[in-house]
Amino acid sequence: MKTIIMTGGTSGLGQVTAQQLNADPAIRFILGGRQTRWPLELSSLSNVRQFSQHILDTLGETKIDALILNAGLSFPIAANTVDGYETTFAVNHLAHYLLLRLLAPALAPDAIVVITTSNTHDPRFSPVAPFASVDAQHLALLALEKSPSGELVFESGFRAYATSKLCNLLTARAFAAAPETQALGVRVIAYNPGFIPGTGLGRNLPTGALPTANPQEAEAARQHAGHVLAELAQGRVIPPAGQVYVSLARGEVTWPDPSTLARRDDIAQQLWRDSAQLAGLVL
Ligand SMILES: NC(=O)c1ccc[n+]([C@@H]2O[C@H](COP(=O)([O-])OP(=O)(O)OC[C@H]3O[C@@H](n4cnc5c(N)ncnc54)[C@H](OP(=O)(O)O)[C@@H]3O)[C@@H](O)[C@H]2O)c1
Repeated sequence: MKTIIMTGGTSGLGQVTAQQLNADPAIRFILGGRQTRWPLELSSLSNVRQFSQHILDTLGETKIDALILNAGLSFPIAANTVDGYETTFAVNHLAHYLLLRLLAPALAPDAIVVITTSNTHDPRFSPVAPFASVDAQHLALLALEKSPSGELVFESGFRAYATSKLCNLLTARAFAAAPETQALGVRVIAYNPGFIPGTGLGRNLPTGALPTANPQEAEAARQHAGHVLAELAQGRVIPPAGQVYVSLARGEVTWPDPSTLARRDDIAQQLWRDSAQLAGLVL
């Protein structure tokens, strides 16, 4: 029996992943979410701590075979979380960083960790480039720009999202490089599912901000991206040695290099340390 923990399995591509894993009798599947049996509200660091403690208490000696950190949002309605941090950064990056740190000691040898990122982390592919530097303090305290009518300005909201996805990639790379991760044989994957229109991710986007899509094609893309995520988490799709980033490009699993900034080890390490401080962890 394998144990798999997941976030972001209640809608979008993650729902497909969750359904596939939950239906497998050989998997003990635990889904953290706002409307699930395992309550998890990622906009609260204390809630993330409660969720991980609940898991650790329940698992006892049982180890985690796969951890899927897939939840995400864009253009949040609430500007800041209860911890006072900018919501996009706090939910997409900081909460998952904390969850990873708290659950890492319970990972099984050869466990798999998948963090869902996006090719918007890369200025070559994003309609709005992420920030050109990654300063966690600045990102945590950022005030996203609003129009005079009170709506989030597209550029500002999208830049925060793209930067949070860059943080996901840097976190995956920093975790993959950690001596404990390597000693345990943990495989770390940063997954770009490609553009999937019509998921909940765009729920707060200004109308017409994204191109409209054919509903059948959008559903096929969602199903495929969710299925690939489940395959990655079960070790059925295996990265080439040394590769962390996987990207679905026109439905194909590819292993390109991430952006220049995402490949900077010094930035990945700095984000790791700064995030620990923001999340209240002892370094
Ligand atoms: N769609 C795309 O084109 C695309 C492209 C690249 C990367 N991605 C990434 O793929 C992942 C899934 O996105 P999606 O498109 O499938 O979006 P989605 O349909 O909105 O799914 C997002 C998931 O995250 C959960 N979530 C959001 N905020 C949360 C919070 N505060 N606490 C707990 N759970 C929370 C949602 O739960 P609720 O059901 O409670 O809202 C939902 O399960 C995200 O990481 C996203 O950045 C998406």
